[in-house]
Amino acid sequence: MRYAALLVWASCIPVMGWCADSPKNIPPGSDASIERAVDSILARLTLEQKVGQLVQYTSSWNDSLTGPGERRADILERIEAGTIGSILNASGARLTRELQDIAVKQSRTGIPLLFGLDVIHGYRTMFPVPLAEAASWDPSAVERSAHVSAIEAAAAGIHWTFAPMVDIALDPRWGRIVEGSGEDPHLGAVMAAARVRGFQTHNLRSPSTLLACPKHFAAYGGAEGGRDYNTVDVSERTLRDLYLPPFKAALDAGALSTMSSFNEIAGVPSTGNRWLLTDLLRKEWGFTGMVVSDWNSIGELVKHGVAETLAEAARMGITAGTDMDMEADAYWLHLPELVKSGAVPSAVLDEAVRRVLRTKFRIGLFDDPYRWTSTATERSLLLHPDHLAAARDVARKSIVLLKNHGQLLPLRKDLPRLAVIGPLADSDDDPLGPWSAKGRREDVVTLREGIQRAVSPATIVEYARGCSIDTVGTDGFPAALALARTADAVILALGEDRDMSGEAACRSTLDLPGSQQALLEAVVQTGKPVVLVLMNGRPLSIPWADEHTPAILEGWFLGVQAGNALADVLFGDYNPSGKLPVTFPRTAGQVPIYYNHKNTGRPGDADDHWTSKYLDLPLTPLYPFGYGLSYTSFRYDDIRLSRNSMTREDTLRVTVRLSNTGKRFGEEVVQMYIRDNVGSVTRPIMELKGFHKVGLEAGDSRDVEFVITQDCLKFTDHAMQYRVEPGTFTVMIGPHSAQVQSRIFTLQ
Ligand code: BGC
Repeated sequence: MRYAALLVWASCIPVMGWCADSPKNIPPGSDASIERAVDSILARLTLEQKVGQLVQYTSSWNDSLTGPGERRADILERIEAGTIGSILNASGARLTRELQDIAVKQSRTGIPLLFGLDVIHGYRTMFPVPLAEAASWDPSAVERSAHVSAIEAAAAGIHWTFAPMVDIALDPRWGRIVEGSGEDPHLGAVMAAARVRGFQTHNLRSPSTLLACPKHFAAYGGAEGGRDYNTVDVSERTLRDLYLPPFKAALDAGALSTMSSFNEIAGVPSTGNRWLLTDLLRKEWGFTGMVVSDWNSIGELVKHGVAETLAEAARMGITAGTDMDMEADAYWLHLPELVKSGAVPSAVLDEAVRRVLRTKFRIGLFDDPYRWTSTATERSLLLHPDHLAAARDVARKSIVLLKNHGQLLPLRKDLPRLAVIGPLADSDDDPLGPWSAKGRREDVVTLREGIQRAVSPATIVEYARGCSIDTVGTDGFPAALALARTADAVILALGEDRDMSGEAACRSTLDLPGSQQALLEAVVQTGKPVVLVLMNGRPLSIPWADEHTPAILEGWFLGVQAGNALADVLFGDYNPSGKLPVTFPRTAGQVPIYYNHKNTGRPGDADDHWTSKYLDLPLTPLYPFGYGLSYTSFRYDDIRLSRNSMTREDTLRVTVRLSNTGKRFGEEVVQMYIRDNVGSVTRPIMELKGFHKVGLEAGDSRDVEFVITQDCLKFTDHAMQYRVEPGTFTVMIGPHSAQVQSRIFTLQ
């Protein structure tokens, strides 16, 4: 019986009788049973206890704060009083069990606590940062990564991850671009759904799942100037067609919570935005889960200047549809009074409490408030060899080969002497990336270690740091250059440190920081074959490197298996298959630059003065969206349409013959883009609508087929309706957004 466990622990609850009697009468297995149980609890809670369910505090124990403020002194008191519903940043089976014990056995309500944590790309086994994983274009690998993260975090007592982060980002200066899947709504939606499936699986009551929380709702990535927390001003159409699809996909995949964002959209901060959180999210989309604020985002309604006092902010937040108050102290301080005075209807409060309680039921907290955790299970699961294997697999799939002049890569494993140079070459910290949960530097295989493990026993691998990541100084150059001169090849690891991207970590340039550019130039001038390995959380502008360095690998922050994964690619045990999920500009001056832009009335033309362009920069980026090379080569033969027109009711097939024309097995991401040639409103020049990752042996060919349905053609039209319009469309297929073949078809 589903609630058998509940009956056992409920019998210890001294004050409230609700859970000892209510579940007995509830038929297990149905939502109706949950609704009855929720109602029964609600009927027995005091006003303060109801509000308490909406309060989330950060832990005072084992973790660092993930936002501004003080550690809390009154958590235990609150748990005992039954006036706190959720804790973030407390983890570990022992600690969470202890706290849960107080909640269910000693508190006045007996309601279990919900433990949340930012499990963004791993718990202890750190996977690549999400932007890197998106470069794999491999949703099943990404789903597995999220699932492994869920297995570990759930074993450590976590119920809820504040992930996936699904914000579309067009500005690489914005540090949080690293947490999402890049610039494209389709790729973003595919990755968002994969992560939700990985975290939640099909059964949220299973001990190896986490409740997902797609965030930050909404348009947080549209921050002006790429400066975190900054103003966002997008049209409703752009909101719907660009920023919202990954959220919709995540919710359709079953995500049962979301987080309101810090930013305003066109003058209304999300946390107090009733249109966004109620009309759109709940009424239009039918979302039945709960909304948590971002860290103090209810309190920040005052700083935004839409609420005069914290009490007013609390009223705005709850009436907009923000159910849980993360760290603002707005709800517990003010909601009781607001409800008593009638400023907030008690039905509004009850509905928010219902959503929180319903969530607790849905994830099985009333079946077992400890969710089957034990310190022994936790120990056995963290860094499990299967998890490390999964991390290595997705890490090597995330690497993008940007340049490979003269087939310098892969390197031979038996080169006599290798120089491994650069401030990131032996870093055991940076590959963890930002938001690294319980990841530890001692778990990381550095690039230097990975190389050392991969090469022949006779190969001499020597290392020199050369310079630091972000300070200016050339003291280390002579030693590094001396090493380079004696080597058969140089592997040079440059980029950013892990704190240069993530929250509140924005940059005004995309250049290599510190003296790294100078180090690169000096090393290249030795005339030795140089492989540049980049580690970074955002696109970097590296035009000089692109012109002068024979081989470049985009290695992001790849997690604990970074060094092994990079070595797999460097020495050819894995043929790179990653493609960029975001455009790489030549310089920050091109930003925002993204592939799915509008045409304008004067599309850029280098030979025509009166067109949309810069005088001092080419129109094109350094590397386009979808770009990435392989150690083999692929040929795309002519694309074929099953017919030249379709109706709304039927579909159309488009096929391309793909051949592996090189000498080894490789995987190619075949990409399909569509343009609506004439619309009632302007349409992007191309939009990704499908992709297939296809493996082919050398010499083999295969037809790759896409089915175009009317869903691929929909957009938000002049009347703000999401629909298709008849007319002509161009379908494009190719290896990346700047190299496509096209055909035209008609929708009748
Ligand atoms: C971030 C969220 C995060 C929360 C809790 C906030 O500052 O914006 O993404 O989930 O802190 O750590």
